[in-house]
Amino acid sequence: MRLKDKVAIITGAGTGIGEAIAHKFAREGARVLLAGLPSDPVKDVASAIVAGGGEAEAFVGDLAEEAQARACVDAAIRRFGRINVLANNAGIFIANAPTEAYRIEDFERTIRNNIRTAFLMTKFALPHLQKTRGNILFTGSEAGINGSANFTPYGASKGFLHAFMKGVALEQARYGVRANCVCPGAIDTAWTRGPGGPLNLEIQKTIDGMVPLGRRGTPEEMANIFAFLASDEASYVTGLLFLADGGVTPAKGNLGEFVPEELRRAPEGTLPLRHSHEGLRGKEVYLAK
Ligand SMILES: NC(=O)c1ccc[n+]([C@@H]2O[C@H](COP(=O)([O-])OP(=O)(O)OC[C@H]3O[C@@H](n4cnc5c(N)ncnc54)[C@H](O)[C@@H]3O)[C@@H](O)[C@H]2O)c1
Repeated sequence: MRLKDKVAIITGAGTGIGEAIAHKFAREGARVLLAGLPSDPVKDVASAIVAGGGEAEAFVGDLAEEAQARACVDAAIRRFGRINVLANNAGIFIANAPTEAYRIEDFERTIRNNIRTAFLMTKFALPHLQKTRGNILFTGSEAGINGSANFTPYGASKGFLHAFMKGVALEQARYGVRANCVCPGAIDTAWTRGPGGPLNLEIQKTIDGMVPLGRRGTPEEMANIFAFLASDEASYVTGLLFLADGGVTPAKGNLGEFVPEELRRAPEGTLPLRHSHEGLRGKEVYLAK
């Protein structure tokens, strides 16, 4: 019960990594406010947590809209009375095109959903986090460190979050508020597996070979890190970029191809996840010809 008595807002909590953070935090004793777009199954995730004996409430709205980001923070206060943790996890990955062919509307969607959401939520939650000496978590990316060919604005949006997090950590330390960022590599969600995503099926087949550990990460493996960083066990950790990319960042060459089959199996997992691959539902995805 690492997060006993904590209240957490988790954004993008209906699917993928966010669904796993929601279940993990609830299992660790947190009361959770789960935010997602109208097309996201946040109500279903909240019901599953309540059915399992936890406390959860869904908030449906577009967190890139000022009024809705404010309403999300207000909803957490109204329901739970305080906020100890904000997990800024919402984001999109909706285009695959070289920069000269990257559509301006996709650039703007990326900035809006990956950056504006996190800025607004951080801004509106901070006064409450200062009262509880709480902490903020971001979902950055290996791509925010290394850049990403064919989705350059996506990688750059994550680079923004990395620097934003560090600034917030420095600025808010005087209030006892910590800020940290988990930087996943390829995780097994709608973004890296299945039809209709920004990576075509041929590219999807090459992912595991590029990862030194020989496989994608699981949403639950990411949630485990969020739970630690959100907890008081991480009380001396702030301003950290926590890479969890299976070794991709320092790798040269396709080291994953040398990993034997039995070591490529992902851990079984313990969370009741049902929406790992539903994050792109209702979103237009653009792939250049
Ligand atoms: N899957 C990966 O390989 C990977 C790698 C690195 C980083 N990440 C990061 O992890 C986070 C989660 O990604 P995922 O793979 O679980 O994908 P996902 O699509 O399943 O989850 C993202 C969720 O955020 C929601 N969202 C987007 N914009 C929103 C808005 N304006 N308001 C409210 N909700 C919004 C989406 O609808 C979706 O449910 C993202 O920030 C992503 O950048 C993912």
